[in-house]
Amino acid sequence: MKIIGTGRAHPAFTLTNAMLEEILDTSNEWIVERTGISQRQIITNEKLEELAAEAARNALDDAGLSPSDIDLVICSNVVNEYVTPSLGCLVEGLIGASCPTYDINAACSGFVYALSTAEAYLRSGMFERILIVCAEEPTRMVNWRDRATCVLFGDAAGAIVVTAGDDLKAIRITANPKREVLRYERVLEPTPYITKEERDVPLFMNGREVFKTAVTSSIADVESVLSEAGVNKDEVKYYILHQANIRIIDSIREHFRQPVEKFPRNVDRFGNTSSASIPLMLDQMSREGQLRKGDKIVLSAFGAGFTTAACLIEWSK
Ligand code: ACO
Repeated sequence: MKIIGTGRAHPAFTLTNAMLEEILDTSNEWIVERTGISQRQIITNEKLEELAAEAARNALDDAGLSPSDIDLVICSNVVNEYVTPSLGCLVEGLIGASCPTYDINAACSGFVYALSTAEAYLRSGMFERILIVCAEEPTRMVNWRDRATCVLFGDAAGAIVVTAGDDLKAIRITANPKREVLRYERVLEPTPYITKEERDVPLFMNGREVFKTAVTSSIADVESVLSEAGVNKDEVKYYILHQANIRIIDSIREHFRQPVEKFPRNVDRFGNTSSASIPLMLDQMSREGQLRKGDKIVLSAFGAGFTTAACLIEWSK
């Protein structure tokens, strides 16, 4: 596959750490020191599908395509207001597309998971132009009285358009079931026959375990894709990691003994936007002219499941 267009969309409202100090027993100092986050954009009156559609339109414009040129839409999403129809169907309704579409949920790893699916379809020849939209509202999964989780997240949508090409040099996706460290449970509609217990539990996270698992698995994934592609770690121009926490990014960077400039970050402004975080970064860097033809770029993501995914691409746009 090759990436021919990128786009993104953010909610309008900016929630700063100072604002969080007013509603929680927390401080700007604690949040910045432990996470690197200063502010995040969060949903107020927007619908997630509207953000997703805006990101999709921006990616299509960037690719010089119209919605009718697209053969398949893959949406990566953990939660939104609709269980069904899929977010992909909602987005298609808004942008005026009517090709096949479905959602995947690989939590924060969803973007790279979607890339692997797109690569397989493009290789098989089944589809020619695929739109990937990652739209997430993790701020609706957390308990806003829990200072250990609600300060971490932001909402956003990121999108890319891919077609047949040779950008992807190596990819690895993994899953290692670990419900005990990170989960979000919700109660379904009752029936007269349900006898099992169901729980309505906002996002539960064992932060330290998630931290350790994220660092260890990302390092293993990155080493694996570098070795599969036969690329030395110093040849990589950028390591674009899932933007969960600045300390996670720095731990991985220190392992690979790479300079700060090679590990771009925007978690300070947007918080953790789940699977949207990598396409957001790609769009930002592409539009700011930071990505050049031939740049070797590693993408690495990790999230609930525990899922992980990494790939090495050579930018050709
Ligand atoms: N403000 C002030 N104090 C806080 C806050 C807060 N917002 N949150 C927690 N604390 C307190 C705790 O209550 C605890 O107090 P205690 O010592 O009196 O018990 C103290 O700070 C230390 O808490 P820890 O959880 O041990 O803090 P830690 O340094 O591990 O940082 C954090 C917590 C930021 C969640 C860290 O573990 C982390 O980033 N983990 C990764 C989690 C992550 O990125 N999750 C995103 C979702 S999943 C994904 O995208 C991979």
